[in-house]
Amino acid sequence: MLPSDRLSFIILLIVTFEVCVAEQSELICSHQPIVAMAGDDVILPCYLDPPISASSETVVWTKPGLDPKYIHFHRDGRLIYDNQNPSYNFRTRLFVDELQNGNVSMKIFNAKISDAGKYFCILESMLEEASIQLTVGVISTPITEVILHNFKDIVLRCESKGWYPEPEVVWLDGEGNLLSAGPTETVRGPDDLYTVSSRVTVEKRHSNIFICRVQQKDINQTRETHIYVPVQSSSDRIRIIIILPVCIIVLFIITTLIICTKRNQKNETEQEEEEGQQQDVKTTEFLTQINTEDERQKTLENTERCSVQRRRLKRSSSDGELGARRELELRKSL
Ligand SMILES: *[C@@H]1O[C@H](CO)[C@@H](O)[C@H](O)[C@H]1NC(C)=O
Ligand SMILES: *[C@@H]1O[C@H](CO)[C@@H](O)[C@H](O)[C@H]1NC(C)=O
Repeated sequence: MLPSDRLSFIILLIVTFEVCVAEQSELICSHQPIVAMAGDDVILPCYLDPPISASSETVVWTKPGLDPKYIHFHRDGRLIYDNQNPSYNFRTRLFVDELQNGNVSMKIFNAKISDAGKYFCILESMLEEASIQLTVGVISTPITEVILHNFKDIVLRCESKGWYPEPEVVWLDGEGNLLSAGPTETVRGPDDLYTVSSRVTVEKRHSNIFICRVQQKDINQTRETHIYVPVQSSSDRIRIIIILPVCIIVLFIITTLIICTKRNQKNETEQEEEEGQQQDVKTTEFLTQINTEDERQKTLENTERCSVQRRRLKRSSSDGELGARRELELRKSL
């Protein structure tokens, strides 16, 4: 065998060996879609199984429809910047230390909505290729409001701004039963985010808690808002219908009573004062008939005492009869 022949033979052996090993090893990426929220860092896991070193391999990450088409181009142990798509500049890395274990996973920093899609990892020399799905989500909390509230119905509106991918909106009552709502209005903004809104008309019932739930199954995210609608139940309304007039009537009666009582008291006082004045006049007439000075003096004193007592009596006792009787006695004693 010539030395050149021997060399060719050795090369052939090596190539065959490499191909055999490569054929035994398979490139596997996660079959489950990878979900990331916008702004997160995310790893797209791919590896050779059984593990063989990919340290000296050209590892390519790409995505269909991308131009320039390379997301990450790894050759001779480093990233080739020149043919990387600018939207991924400084946002990707391979785990260089892991390549020897056949781990060719790629990390993407600060995930964007535009990063979502199907990624391919390619090991050209091994004729290996595998794909992996990345889903990037954006979520927001819905806001719910009452837009109409009459005797029969309540109309509620729910809006949630800034979702990706497009979410769905459902309404539930307090017990978790699905309510039938109108169609969801969807608007896609210039930032690619979706704004969804929905209205529902509900009857007034004992349960007046309603839930607006916005959900996106691809990113396994749900956000909901509870709204409490203070509803007067029919029994409440009946109570108000009955109680209100009763209250008004009672109030009217009380007011009338107070006014009447005051008026009566005033009349009584006036009458008593009149009577008292009349009696004073009578006493003075009586006095003029008395001759002796002493007697007159005594009588005058008595009369004064009598008047004072009468006034006191009037003040202290509201019982007119008693006062009159006392006065009678007093007059007799004179
Ligand atoms: C590959 O490396 C990444 C980063 O260290 C690690 O998270 C991942 O689990 C590794 N995958 C395998 C299959 O070892
Ligand atoms: C979705 O999220 C819930 C909780 O947030 C979790 O329990 C569930 O396992 C997730 N499902 C999937 C398919 O990721």
